[in-house]
Amino acid sequence: MDRKWWHDKVAYQIYPKSFLDTNGDGIGDLRGIISKLDYLKELGIDIIWLSPIYKSPFVDQGYDIADYYAIAEEFGTMEEFDELLAEAKKREMYIIMDLVINHCSDQHEWFQKALANPEGKYADYFYFRKGKNGNPPSNYRSYFGGSCWEPVPGTDKYYLHMFAKEQPDLNWENQELRQELYNMVNWWLEKGLAGFRIDAIINIKKDLEFPSFDPDGPDGLAGCWKMVESVDGIGEYLEDLKKNTFQKYDAFTVAEVFNMKKGELQKFIGKDGYFSTIFDFSAHCLSDGKHGWYDAPQIDFKEWRETVINSQLEVQKCGFEANIIENHDEPRGASRFLPEYAVNPDGIKMLGTINILLRGIPFIYQGQEIGMQNAVWNSIEEYDDINTKDQYDIARKAGLTDQEALAACGRMSRDNARTPVQWSHTENAGFTVGTPWLKVNSNYKEINVEDQEKDEDSILNYYRRLIRLRKSEEFREIFTYGEFVPVYHDTENIMAYYRLDGDRRILVAANFGKEAAEIEFEYPIKKMILSNQKGVEIEEGKRGLRLESCQVVILECE
Ligand code: GLC
Ligand code: CA
Repeated sequence: MDRKWWHDKVAYQIYPKSFLDTNGDGIGDLRGIISKLDYLKELGIDIIWLSPIYKSPFVDQGYDIADYYAIAEEFGTMEEFDELLAEAKKREMYIIMDLVINHCSDQHEWFQKALANPEGKYADYFYFRKGKNGNPPSNYRSYFGGSCWEPVPGTDKYYLHMFAKEQPDLNWENQELRQELYNMVNWWLEKGLAGFRIDAIINIKKDLEFPSFDPDGPDGLAGCWKMVESVDGIGEYLEDLKKNTFQKYDAFTVAEVFNMKKGELQKFIGKDGYFSTIFDFSAHCLSDGKHGWYDAPQIDFKEWRETVINSQLEVQKCGFEANIIENHDEPRGASRFLPEYAVNPDGIKMLGTINILLRGIPFIYQGQEIGMQNAVWNSIEEYDDINTKDQYDIARKAGLTDQEALAACGRMSRDNARTPVQWSHTENAGFTVGTPWLKVNSNYKEINVEDQEKDEDSILNYYRRLIRLRKSEEFREIFTYGEFVPVYHDTENIMAYYRLDGDRRILVAANFGKEAAEIEFEYPIKKMILSNQKGVEIEEGKRGLRLESCQVVILECE
């Protein structure tokens, strides 16, 4: 396998709006990010992914871009962005931005021009289509609910939007539009950006016939992803995109890809793949509800273990995936992947260890390193997220009470991850001196950076040790390139694997059970490298170990 500059890096996602506010308007900003670069450096972060900071009406929190070349005023200025790039560079850190090119904002000048002249050139930057028999062109349900088609005022046409109606889809068939996007991507790369996280990219290829599908909900619509899954040919676009942009700069790209077709992984992330890597969402998909969040199943440990293992085995045949516990679209991992008895510092460290030492590029989401958890809110009014409002409605329409629908949002809402970072135990968690744009999680007095800094045993300090270990002279090679080999996968409640490199072997073993468990070593143990619990002594040559509940150990074997 060819070695790439990003293989051994550790990444961190910043959701700027909720990271740190420095001017008291309640919204996180670039100054806030700059001021925390040393904090991130100390955590061991190399690559920082910024969720969108472009000019936007924020209907979908910046994933609706009105100007790809401008920084949103809420976040700061282009000068401040350049300063961020320079300060990151000084610290040998890399900045990547979100690249949202499946759609733009309805406020983007392209869309405004298209509306002004629906027969003109810009209309073809989007999908303007006539309806069928007085209905929209097809029965697709958008990802945020309702039809994917919205009337174009003053015409008999509709435009396509797979997300909110304020996020019209861009027409990738149009070569001029593609060229505009490539120019924009290159403009940012020229500035010194190290690459991109690429949003919702699997959606760019449409079936131009726009066939309807059998309805799959009481609204008579069918999920638009069905069209995505049924159409071929996305590869040509992705290849073209890569050749005209990323490849020329040796950029690091990590794509958000759901609904990939079987057997395509190699094309996406293999040698000469379209992207450097994609996120591994396989464990997250385990809580996909049949009808929505309200019937989202709880994570079952066995299923989760099998899913993670299978994904690792599959991916290592061709490349690297980016491993996450959570992101800005997912609930907090501590609240999702751990049984209730394990939602404590030991359990959270255990989950972090298992994830960060997997083969792949670890992406840590802001606040994960202190064990931030889901928010508990009592009214749908407290939520901001467009997706959450839709899911709340779906639940109510399915007959759930307000309390039940809220419980579903409490478990699955994207706002769980979007509450402000808890920097301290002072008011508003030290995030802002003003009024935060989204409520701070009420547990900030127990969970915050400042207190954890002072506590050697905190989740934060454990994450630092863990990342330091992963990147150390001694172990960097094995944790980066070492083979992943599952072990003890028939032992109840144990999640464990080896990382193997030549004749070196590291064992990572965790007990997710409520009771202590015994494991027998297959190989004599050379040394204990790290554990989340104190007082583990391994006698040389010992053949077994008792793992306490929520304990994880990292051992070097003979
Ligand atoms: C991606 C983003 C999500 C956004 C959507 C539409 O899934 O991660 O936050 O709402 O795309 O851009
Ligand atoms: Ca601010």
